[in-house]
Amino acid sequence: MTATISDTLLDWYDAHARALPWRAPPGAPPMEPYRVWLSEVMLQQTTVAAVKPYFEKFVATWPDVAALAAAPEEAVMAAWAGLGYYSRARNLVKCARAVAGMGGFPRSEVELKRLPGLGDYTAAAIAAIAFSERAVVVDANVERVVARLFAIAEPLPGARRAIRAQADAITPDTRAGDFAQAMMDLGATICTARDAKCLLCPLSADCAGRASGDPLRLPVKAAKKAKPKRTGTAFWIERAGEEGGETGREVWLVQRPGTGMLGGMRSLPDDGWSAKGDGHGEPPLQGAWRAAGVVRHSFTHFDFELSVVAYAGDSTQPEGKGEWWPVKTIEDAGLPTLFAKAARIVSA
Ligand code: ADE
Repeated sequence: MTATISDTLLDWYDAHARALPWRAPPGAPPMEPYRVWLSEVMLQQTTVAAVKPYFEKFVATWPDVAALAAAPEEAVMAAWAGLGYYSRARNLVKCARAVAGMGGFPRSEVELKRLPGLGDYTAAAIAAIAFSERAVVVDANVERVVARLFAIAEPLPGARRAIRAQADAITPDTRAGDFAQAMMDLGATICTARDAKCLLCPLSADCAGRASGDPLRLPVKAAKKAKPKRTGTAFWIERAGEEGGETGREVWLVQRPGTGMLGGMRSLPDDGWSAKGDGHGEPPLQGAWRAAGVVRHSFTHFDFELSVVAYAGDSTQPEGKGEWWPVKTIEDAGLPTLFAKAARIVSA
C-alpha cells in the first residue's frame, strides 16, 4: 500500500510535472541548491504564478549565493517589493551571507534548519529537492492532500501531527524530492482547496476522502477569528524637482526601521501606525493637507485602512532622513504593495 502510493504518484509526476524555472525535470539530477533555496523561501505563503517573475529577476541579478551575499540589503528589499512577508527578504540576505561564509549550503535537513529563516518546511524541502535526502516535506498543499487521502477529520492545527505521520509513511526512500514536488503539484492542480478533481487524480483509488463522498470538507479547519481592523495615515509630500514642471515632480520617501511591519522597506512617511497597535482614526486635515484617498490592504493578522494625505502647501523640506524620488519612476522605488497602491492613487 505504502509503496503503491509513492510509485503511483511518481509515475504521474513523470508524465505531468509542471516545468518550473527552479525545478529539474523528473528523475534528472537536482538543480543547484541556491535555486532550490531561493524558490522555496519565495514560495512560502506565495503562489507559483506570483513567484516566477521574482525568481527570474533574482537569479538574473544575483546568479549565485555569493553574489546575493555581497548585495546591499536595501537592493534585495527593493527587488522583493510586492512579494510580501518582508522578513523573508531580510532573512534571505542573512542566510546568503551565512552560507557564503560556510563555503556553500549544508546538505542535511538538520544543518539546513540552523540557517537564518529556514523552518521545518524549508529545510526539509531543500534537503529532499536539492540533496535527495529522504525528508518529509509538508506544506499547506501537502497537508490538504494527505488529510483527504487518509480522511483525517481532526481539525487543523491539531491534525498536523497525524498528517505528518501519514506523510512520513508514504514518503519513499528514493526520489524524495520528486515525491514532495509531486504532492505539491497534485495539491496545486488537482486536489485544490476549492475543488477535488478526483476523476483526474492518480491516487483516487487509494483515497479515503474520496471514498467518504465529500473530500472537500477536508482538511477541517478550526473556525477563524475575524481579523481586527487597523487604520493609519501616510503622507505624500511633493516638490517640483530639479527638472521642474510636471515631469520633474518628486515625492519624499523614507526607509522604514529594520524591524516591525514592512521593516527595512522604502515607503511613504506615515504616522507610525505599525508601532501603535491601532491607528488613530481620521487624519488631522489641517492647513495645507488634503485627503488623497484610502487604501485597503489585508495583512496576515489584520485588515488595514491607510488614509493618504497629500501636502498641498509651498515647497518644503521634510525633517529627518529620506530621499526625493521622481514620481514618474515611482514603480521602480521598490515600495511594498500597500504603499505602491497609495502612490498609484495620488500620482495618477
Ligand atoms: N511550493 C513550494 N515549493 C514548491 C515547489 N518546489 N514546486 C512547486 N510548488 C511549490
